[in-house]
Order: sequence, then C-alpha cells, then structure tokens
Amino acid sequence: MVKRNTCVFISGNGSNLKNLIFHSRDNIFPIKISLIISNNRKANGLIYAKKYKIPFILINTNFKNYENKILFNLRKYNIEFICLAGYMKILSNSLIQNFQKKIINIHPSLLPKFKGLNTFSRMLKNKEIKAGCTVHYVNEKLDAGNTIVQKTFFINKNDNEQILKKKTQKLEYRAFPEAIIKIFRNF
Ligand code: GRF
Repeated sequence: MVKRNTCVFISGNGSNLKNLIFHSRDNIFPIKISLIISNNRKANGLIYAKKYKIPFILINTNFKNYENKILFNLRKYNIEFICLAGYMKILSNSLIQNFQKKIINIHPSLLPKFKGLNTFSRMLKNKEIKAGCTVHYVNEKLDAGNTIVQKTFFINKNDNEQILKKKTQKLEYRAFPEAIIKIFRNF
C-alpha cells in the first residue's frame, strides 16, 4: 500500500501524535508520518519525534512570515495530508486553500457544540448529558468543517474537568485513526 506523506502539527503533550505514530507503523495504515511541526519548542510531543526519528520543524509564530516556513517544509517533505493534533494556532486561509480537504483536526467536544477552548468547563456549566470528541475537516471557520468521525460517552454526575478530559482522550485515540482509515478508504 502507498502511504500518504503526512505532517502532524502539535503544540503540547502529543499523546495523539504518539498514538498516530503507533498506528502508522502498521503496514496497512494509510499514512506515514514524515514530518512534525510544532509552534512550541517545549512541546512534550517532540520527544516522540526524536524517539521515532521523525523530522520535526519548530516555528515561531511571532515572525510575520512564519507560514512561509511551514509551506516550504510541507513541499520539501512532499506532504499530502495534515493532521492537527492539539495545535493551538489557527491556520491561515491560504494554507487551508493549498490543502483543501487534506487537513483534519481532532476536537474534544461533540461539534458543533463547544467550538474553541475550555470545552470541559463549559460542558459542566451547561449540565450536558453527553461529551465526546470529533474528527473533522479543517476549513476557514474555527472547528466548523465536515465531521468525519464522532465518538460519544455519557457524563456521570461525579465527572469533573480532569475526568472528562481523560475519558475524551481515550476516545480520541480510537477516533483519529478511524477517521484516517475512513478518508483513504474512499480515495
Ligand atoms: C486533544 O484533546 C485534542 O482534542 C485537542 O487538543 C488535545 C491534544 O492532546 N485539540 P495531546 O497533545 O494529543 O495529548
């Protein structure tokens, strides 16, 4: 099987990155992680880049033309597909247009509910019955592209933010690979 050269963007912990690396080492998984981009040089996720010898690029989003560096490297590594895994920056329209329908993101809520940050505290405040995660295409609007995979669980009355995060991430580790398989099954 021809694996698609994929870049994963991170900003922090990188547990989804680690999970994707694990899956991508399977011969029949449709992507190869060829590049990792982080806007945070202290991102814990970079340890996985080093451990698994995957090239990584650090970008400084304070520089005006930082997206040129991103585009340059995406071309250099022949990147065909992009996964945002806890990347805390909004991509520019031009980057999104360059990779139409080829960028996906994982979000810790049942979109279209709770777009943006602090999803768990808002869910609890709102007395939601269900929580979960969504893998969706990235378009020009925040957390608004078409859903690829969504996974749900019921919130218990004792669940706090930390517990919700833990339960959500457990589902994310299934949802992200499932979404990737689903996308490339239709190619
Ligand atoms: C995930 O929970 C994801 O939903 C959100 O950011 C978090 C990243 O976690 N977009 P990690 O860095 O993959 O551990």
